[in-house]
Amino acid sequence: MVVRNKSIGVFDSGFGGLGVLRGIIKVLPEYDYVYLGDTSRAPYGHRNTEDVYKFSQEAVDFLFSKQCELIVFGCNTASSNALHVIQHTYLPAHFPDRKVLGVLIPFSEEAVNRTRNKKVGVMATEATVRSQTFVRELAKLDPTVSVYQQACPLLVPFIEAGEETSAPAREALRSYLAPLIEEHIDTLILGCTHYGLIKKEIQEIVGVSVSLVSEENVVPPRLRRYLEAHPEIESKLTKNGSRRFYTTDTTGRFQTLGGRFFGEEIAAETVSL
Ligand code: DGL
Repeated sequence: MVVRNKSIGVFDSGFGGLGVLRGIIKVLPEYDYVYLGDTSRAPYGHRNTEDVYKFSQEAVDFLFSKQCELIVFGCNTASSNALHVIQHTYLPAHFPDRKVLGVLIPFSEEAVNRTRNKKVGVMATEATVRSQTFVRELAKLDPTVSVYQQACPLLVPFIEAGEETSAPAREALRSYLAPLIEEHIDTLILGCTHYGLIKKEIQEIVGVSVSLVSEENVVPPRLRRYLEAHPEIESKLTKNGSRRFYTTDTTGRFQTLGGRFFGEEIAAETVSL
């Protein structure tokens, strides 16, 4: 008899979500995981909402076809531009018994808990900033919090090229952070999968008094609490410790770059969505 794993899916536009998956596996190693990186169409950060939605829905269909019971959108751009419609319209119509979770609400809750002076900065892609989702979520939690958003379009290309510590990358980072520093933020959301890799550089520029909220620290404990609170979902998941990786690009690039985010070598399979 073939036993099919009932997995947790993790979706990202590309490689960045592998850092989140790594964090999740540290906290919840026993579960089975399926990762999808839509690398052939990444980056999503400069795309319009319609494209991000279409690609995200295709990713959801794919991960559910791989027996995922629950999907985590590691991608902030997909979480901010597509998740709401997927949760409130697409799932009820097509997959009423399955769940898709995003990263923006956990991020926002963490930031609201941490800020003392009620000034929160957000670094993210252009599409995430344009969606205003962080502004809305933070306002829902605490309307007295002021939110200062900064789109950082050059950072993902620098990080993916392995040039994040180069002089031009540091210069770009400094100029993105300057307006946030001027506003005296005390909490900064790293609202993009890639920024965890340059946390040290960001902290150096903003100073130790600014608290950095990043995915790999926020999402894993939140997912654990979600599973504890939802035994009807948790009990369906299998626990064989398997990991499968899918990419829409050639696997060589995914494996090389993906390894940087995941922290160890990965074997990926190419799929078309
Ligand atoms: N994964 C995206 C995010 O977290 C960053 C990369 C992209 O632009 O596709 O927003």
